[in-house]
Amino acid sequence: MYAVAIDGPAGAGKSTISRAVAQKIGFLYVDTGALYRAVAYDMLENRIDPSDIHAVCERLAHITVRLGYENGDQQIYLNGKNITEKIRTPQISAAASTVSSIGEVRQFLFSLQQDIARENHIIMDGRDIGTVVLPNAQVKIYLTADVEERARRRFVELQQKGIHTDFEEVLADVKRRDENDMNRSIAPLRQAPDAVLVNTSHLNFDQSVRAVLAVIEERIGRE
Ligand code: DC
Repeated sequence: MYAVAIDGPAGAGKSTISRAVAQKIGFLYVDTGALYRAVAYDMLENRIDPSDIHAVCERLAHITVRLGYENGDQQIYLNGKNITEKIRTPQISAAASTVSSIGEVRQFLFSLQQDIARENHIIMDGRDIGTVVLPNAQVKIYLTADVEERARRRFVELQQKGIHTDFEEVLADVKRRDENDMNRSIAPLRQAPDAVLVNTSHLNFDQSVRAVLAVIEERIGRE
């Protein structure tokens, strides 16, 4: 099986670019952020403070998270209920970043990610895919963009979904998540030594897709 690991900070365009690339080459796209978002969603629904490690760990025993696909689109199920449409709010983003620093949460989601990679050609995006989850992936890409540009893109995306916030708030959220994701002690966001850096700050969507495809062709094409 072929695995393409795409890691990088929030708002770099990982999910939209990965989805488009996966479609072009016929690989399954796996968005691992949705898994952390599902755990965060469950905590907020149950009025559990995402930073209360003890309470979060206790709650984990009562939840199951599963991925499915509908017309090629990833769906996420929490205790059998499809919550795909409910996990994209700024509150869930912040809570997902918080719960993702808890080792037990990462452990809880680990085998689910490895199992799906064992059975499919995949493009998997996240923060620790090339470093921890799939260290043997044939292709590793670290996809990033300047923080202001990432905040601008996230702001536009939220607006298009009808979620109203102001730019400064989105920028602060992106910076806070960078800080959390890069500085946590377990599986922090890092560029794997064998990952290719792709910076999309000055690339449009099509150019970004082409840049990622070029890396994949270069690496897999040689095998
Ligand atoms: O990619 P995203 O914005 O949906 O991710 C939400 C949060 O989940 C992010 O702040 C960090 C965490 N995450 C992680 O720690 N490891 C992953 N592989 C994917 C996401």
